[in-house]
Amino acid sequence: MSIDYASKIPNNVDLDQNRQLQRALEHWQPKYLEWWREVGPVESHSSEVYLRTAVSVDSKGWAQFGYVKMPDYRWGIFLAEREPSRKIGFGSHKGQAVFEEVPGELRSTLRRIIVTQGDTEPASVEQQRFLGGTCPSLYDLRNLYQVNVEEGRHLWAMVYLLHAHFGRDGREEGEALLERRSGDADKPRILGAFNEQTPDWLAFFMFTFLTDRDGKYQLAALAESGFDPLARSTRFMLTEEAHHLFVGETGVGRIIQRTVEAMKQHKVEAPDQVRALGVIDLPTIQRYLNFHFSVTLDLYGGEISSNASTFYAMGLKGRFDESKIDDDHVLASAEYKLLDLAGDRLVDKHVNAQLALNERLRDDYIADCQAGVDRWNKIIDKSGLPFRFKLAHKAFNRKIGTFAGARVSPDGEVVGEAKWTHHAADWLPTAEDHAFVRSLMGRVTEAGKYANWIAPPARGIDNKGVDFEYVRFA
Ligand SMILES: [Fe+2]
Ligand SMILES: [Fe+2]
Repeated sequence: MSIDYASKIPNNVDLDQNRQLQRALEHWQPKYLEWWREVGPVESHSSEVYLRTAVSVDSKGWAQFGYVKMPDYRWGIFLAEREPSRKIGFGSHKGQAVFEEVPGELRSTLRRIIVTQGDTEPASVEQQRFLGGTCPSLYDLRNLYQVNVEEGRHLWAMVYLLHAHFGRDGREEGEALLERRSGDADKPRILGAFNEQTPDWLAFFMFTFLTDRDGKYQLAALAESGFDPLARSTRFMLTEEAHHLFVGETGVGRIIQRTVEAMKQHKVEAPDQVRALGVIDLPTIQRYLNFHFSVTLDLYGGEISSNASTFYAMGLKGRFDESKIDDDHVLASAEYKLLDLAGDRLVDKHVNAQLALNERLRDDYIADCQAGVDRWNKIIDKSGLPFRFKLAHKAFNRKIGTFAGARVSPDGEVVGEAKWTHHAADWLPTAEDHAFVRSLMGRVTEAGKYANWIAPPARGIDNKGVDFEYVRFA
């Protein structure tokens, strides 16, 4: 399945065989570019960026690197290879052949799933649009732009499904995806975390570590879908997503490394003394982690969800690694343990597993985050300093579900309003924390130079050096 790069819209879906669909997408394309120019990365349009572009969907070699001006990036439609005789792996229709067209009764449900996923993609580009102005290096600037163009491509992936399978409704949704704006009071993006700001690079790295990881788990659940075009779209998106998580984890890791080096060198541990060295103190990094983690947990929705149960029963959205789970994949009588609030205590509760699928996906996600945090702690370990990062308790600072509005500390203690207020500044980033981090954000654009608050990466991109000129300005 090679990619047709000759057509206006690169694709591996034989777009030239379907004139009507091709025309509809070619009609959407200039509107997409208009959106990119309007709310995509600022002051970037004439820069040449060393980016990867998908040239195949083969896992062995799908990317090609080269300098590109971002408005000329070849955003396209790439579905993973079709698996012959693939079967629905779960739910009421388990064992039946996967479907290529949307059955009438699943239409609105499936459209909603695709629109909700699609909406997150342009939202994050909007959230990150000003970061280029304060990049800590050309390497980081290039990574930011790589994430941005790929989120743009993820939007293309979802808009293709809407156009190809949902007729006029789908085309209208495609337009609406370019009209909503992150953080806009009148026409906000659909999900809360995608209306938050990403004001600085620590926030950006936390976002890519935590919120792009939500993307990974949502996409993985959709990659199990019985609606094969959705499964194949999301499978290829997951390949791209891995880099976004890498950017986040190594970005925070490099900040930690630099802070720890400075602390050791100057033999200081008190946050204000650490800040005086021009690096970010570890407790501030922990507060950022608490914020982005709790906001992202809300993306999984309520603990008990009849929607999630319906998606599963209908074979539309599975569990993470569904095929690797050893059970009946129907879950009619299985139970799942979740946490509940009983007065001022957190208690376990057993519910039907099909109703608890949001919670299960959230738990899988949390375990993955924990592994990343453990790797950060190894960086501190090597220095001999006693500080350790911790993931906040899942009930901390939640706005959706059982714990919405409950006052629970990062350690999982249910606290009263007074204690919450007293400790809020220890647990969540304050205006002062933001101001301090912002004060460090200069703009470093000399090849091989890195801002003082972040260590250079261990290696460059595409076997290039850490001093490679990843972005050339006009
Ligand atoms: Fe994405
Ligand atoms: Fe992403």
